This record gives sequence, C-alpha cells and structure tokens, in this order.
Amino acid sequence: MNKFINIAKKSIFNINPYVPGKPIEEVEREYKIKNIIKLASNENPLGPSKLAIAAMKKKIKEVNLYPDSSVFYLRNTLSKYLNVPANMLMFGNGSNELEQLIAETFVNPGEEVLFSELSFVVYPIVTEIVSGHAVVVPHKNFKHDIDGFIDRLSDKTKLVFLCNPNNPTGTIITKKEFERFMKYVNHRIIVVLDEAYSEYARSPEYPNGIKYLKRYSNLIVLRTFSKIYGLAGLRIGYGIADKDIVDLIDRVRPPFNVNLLAQYAAEAALKDKKHIKNTLKTNNAGKKFLYRLFKRLNIDFIKTYANFIFVKFNRSSMEIFKKLLEKGVIIRPQQENYARITIGTKKDNLKLAKALKEIAEC
Ligand SMILES: Cc1ncc(COP(=O)(O)O)c(C=O)c1O
Repeated sequence: MNKFINIAKKSIFNINPYVPGKPIEEVEREYKIKNIIKLASNENPLGPSKLAIAAMKKKIKEVNLYPDSSVFYLRNTLSKYLNVPANMLMFGNGSNELEQLIAETFVNPGEEVLFSELSFVVYPIVTEIVSGHAVVVPHKNFKHDIDGFIDRLSDKTKLVFLCNPNNPTGTIITKKEFERFMKYVNHRIIVVLDEAYSEYARSPEYPNGIKYLKRYSNLIVLRTFSKIYGLAGLRIGYGIADKDIVDLIDRVRPPFNVNLLAQYAAEAALKDKKHIKNTLKTNNAGKKFLYRLFKRLNIDFIKTYANFIFVKFNRSSMEIFKKLLEKGVIIRPQQENYARITIGTKKDNLKLAKALKEIAEC
C-alpha cells in the first residue's frame, strides 16, 4: 500500500493514469528482438524534418541558457503562417499541457466539462486534476454525437472538448455539426477544438477552427508539432484564441514551459513544405494499403481522416496486441476487440500485413 495515501488529495484517486503507447526500447528489452516498429502513438513515421534537425544542431550549444519564455521567433513565424495576430497564440509543452492549463484557468471545482466517450484520454484526466465534473457524451457510431452534447449543456457547463479529427476513431465533426453546436453554446462556456490531426483532414466538410475564431470569442483551437511535423519527442503544441483568453492562461503557465530546441525546431519544421507533402503522400498511400489489407483479412475499420485507423478484430485486441509484439509490431489496443493502428511507411505497413496474416493463419 502507498504510505502517503492518507495525505494525498482524495480527488487524484479518480484519475486513471495515462497509458502511453508501448515504447520500442521496452519491447526490445522484454522480447529480446530488434527492428521493432511502433504504430501506437500516431507519430510521423518519416521522422522529423531535416530542416528541424539542422535548426536544433545550430542551437544545441545554447542549452545552458533558459529558452525565451515568450516564444518570440516561433510566435511571429506562426502568426504569419496562420494569418492570426501574434497575441492570439499560446504555446505549451505539448498541446497536452495546454489542455491542462485551460482546465486550470477556467474550471472551478464541481463545474462540468463535456467530452465524447471514446475520445482523447487526457480530457477526463485534466478534468479530475481540477476537480471538475466530467460529463461524458456517448458516441454515435463512433462519432461525436452533437445532439448528445447539446442535450447535456447546462448552467454548470464550463468547458467542452471537441476532438476533430477524433482520437482514437479518426472520425470528424463536420462544419454543419460544429456550427449547429455553437448556436447552443453561450459565451460563458469555453469550447476547445482539439485539432492535433487537422493537417491530415483533407475534406471540404472539415471545419478549420481558425476560421471561426472571429465569430466565437469563447473558442480555443489547439494544434501540435507532435504529429505531422514529427516533433513528438520535443513536446511542443500551440493554441489560438482571443487574446484575453491567452492572457488568462498565461497566468497559470509555468515559466519557460517550451524548451529551447523545440522552439527552433518547430519554426524550421513549419517551413519544410516538402516534408509535409511527403508525409501526406505516405499517409494517403498507407491508408489505401491498410484499407485493402483489412478488407482482405475481414478486419472491420472506420474510415479515417487522420494518420491512424480504428479497427475491430474478431477477437480480443489485447490478444492480437501481444501476438504482434512478439513479431516486433506495436499497436494500441483499446477496449474489447478494438484497436488503433498508426499508418506507417510502406515498409512498416508491409511488416504489419505479414504479422497480421501470420496471426490470422494460426
Ligand atoms: C487528440 C490529441 N490531442 C492532443 C494530443 C497531445 O499531443 P501533444 O501533447 O504531443 O501536443 C494528442 C496526442 O496523442 C492527441 O491525440
């Protein structure tokens, strides 16, 4: 038993700690195998941009110094890139940190935080951290149920997390659905559009959150450098919102929360159009390949708008996960027969295909 259980805050015992994708090194140690591929955390399988690596090399000798807490250069580059004023930007040690800072800034104990069932697992965690009351909206065919959200708005609602595209299902909330929802939301409720995978969502129906910021001053759009930009290990994400929201969040933001290398790498990655183009091309080709594979193997899946696919096996996903680990492939099991698989490079996807076929045959 934990010796400090009686002095810890009671509310932390409601938190189910975040379970990350199994790291490659851990599988190497446990299974004594090499050449492992990780298709578990929706990272960029092509790696970081070469421009980002060069930028980090240039700055590595300066890590004896604290980073610029105001993130000046990246802020200005991003402001031009997104065409939003620099004072509408906020940065975090991953967008994950911003999610927590938003909850800390706005949610009083007992106030309600709405999010969808089968959505990003960090939302319930940050809600519990601030002693908010989680209101979980059941999913509708693996999508956000917008009517379910509207029905659950109350005078206690303070924060809403909408994940678009949604992790883990890869589905989107359409422009129409988002606009309809916002009609029911008053300006005292903060709405977070978590767009960690927005760059992959190439659909005319997909709402670009930034375009709505002028219309809805209570909207916060979150993006990250962890996914398409391939910088997950550096931990850097950003938010765009009304400057008064940014000012409030700045009060709870820890000093120097975005490290020096991340700031320069992100700025360089933003400019590397070729890397983004290659990543999208790899993802689209991989998506088609995996759709065909899953059909052939009778594995159900949901059409994705991101860089991962939500699948349903005909048996426990934990069992398949373990068998795949023995073959050097890491996926992310979900409840029952469901799993989330990141789309890899051609080589990664072929390795996954071979492993799944072998498992299906035995
Ligand atoms: C939907 C969603 N939001 C936010 C994050 C957090 O990303 P990061 O903290 O790396 O920016 C993730 C990471 O998996 C995610 O899937």
